[in-house]
Amino acid sequence: MIEDFLRGTECSLHSLVAGSSYRLLESARDHKRALDGDQGQNTGGMGAFSPANNWNDKLQSQFETEIMQPLLRGLQQGGITFRGLLYPGLIITRDGARVLEFNCRFGDPETQALLPRMKSDLLPLLEATIDGNLGKCSIEWDTRAAVTVVLASGGYPGKYETGKTVSGLDDATKLEDVRIFHAGTKHANGEVKTAGGRVLSVTALGSTLEAARARAYEAASRIHFENCHYRHDIALGETN
Ligand code: GLY
Repeated sequence: MIEDFLRGTECSLHSLVAGSSYRLLESARDHKRALDGDQGQNTGGMGAFSPANNWNDKLQSQFETEIMQPLLRGLQQGGITFRGLLYPGLIITRDGARVLEFNCRFGDPETQALLPRMKSDLLPLLEATIDGNLGKCSIEWDTRAAVTVVLASGGYPGKYETGKTVSGLDDATKLEDVRIFHAGTKHANGEVKTAGGRVLSVTALGSTLEAARARAYEAASRIHFENCHYRHDIALGETN
């Protein structure tokens, strides 16, 4: 099989799908490399932001008519009624959006940036997806931007140590519109300890991407554990 080499920037478009109907969630972008400037090894994701700065209405309309709608028609023609979360990972090329992969799950860490922007309750939307009632649903979004910074254990994505005491969580959550999602932590002796490679995701909302970014980094700087590392350039960089 010969495939196109896709040159461009990535964008994640999640959608709730119930057969032939679907609802797109807002756009998001993640940062997969371990180090600033997209250097270092690939990781599970070192940060994300929403909305994506390489997405626009024109791309969305092309995506819906050339990718989403034909896909759902094809599934139906093949006798497949897909109900769930469909998340195409896209590359925005000079010729428009192209699919790199299809995932049937929420993206990590895009979800940590997306869900704090979702004003609608997620549970009824998931129930409507299962029941095939998405046609009646609309999703309300916070127009503000969200930036998520992942705090990782020293050495991740290679070998890393765990069991380090995490401090500053209360101090970080004192900041307005900041949420901290635990990934690789555990409670031990009344303390929070590191228990994985990607330890925490720190998300902040802001009136602009820059404001959200500044707040996320202020929150991240209040959290400490030995050999903690994170990228300093989340939500910066090329728009395409
Ligand atoms: N952030 C990429 C993924 O969840 O696959």
